Amino acid sequence: MESFELIKEAEEARKRSYSPYSGFAVGAAVLCKNGKVYHGANIENSSYPLCMCAERNAIYAAYMDGQSKDDLLALAVTADTAGPCSPCGACRQVISELFPHDAPIYMSNLKGDVKVTDAEHLLPFAFDGSDL
Ligand code: THU
Repeated sequence: MESFELIKEAEEARKRSYSPYSGFAVGAAVLCKNGKVYHGANIENSSYPLCMCAERNAIYAAYMDGQSKDDLLALAVTADTAGPCSPCGACRQVISELFPHDAPIYMSNLKGDVKVTDAEHLLPFAFDGSDL
């Protein structure tokens, strides 16, 4: 699957965002080695700290279907932002643990801007299980 196709999947996922409080809809899509694509959108709550981001929902959906870190090939995230939508700090921590460090992460927006990065660049010097 090409990067633009995965970004389209993230746009589709974004349509299922539940974001009445921020009004900021985010979509994400994870591509796996077997060709399966998992969608995530941000799901908010009136108790604000309970809001869950699109990226984490997409990665958790993959894991819940039996995929593991080595099965994940690429991640796309998109929102109606001025530049490519960048994952928040909490998502970076989760990506660092659950997503391969060298796999592409496509940050995008609805205008077609795309920036490619990876987990290592999103969160250098990450805290991880080896620190415990
Ligand atoms: N959000 C995401 O879904 N992903 C990010 O990486 C940035 C923030 C969501 C959380 C909340 O529902 C809304 O965007 C505003 O912060």
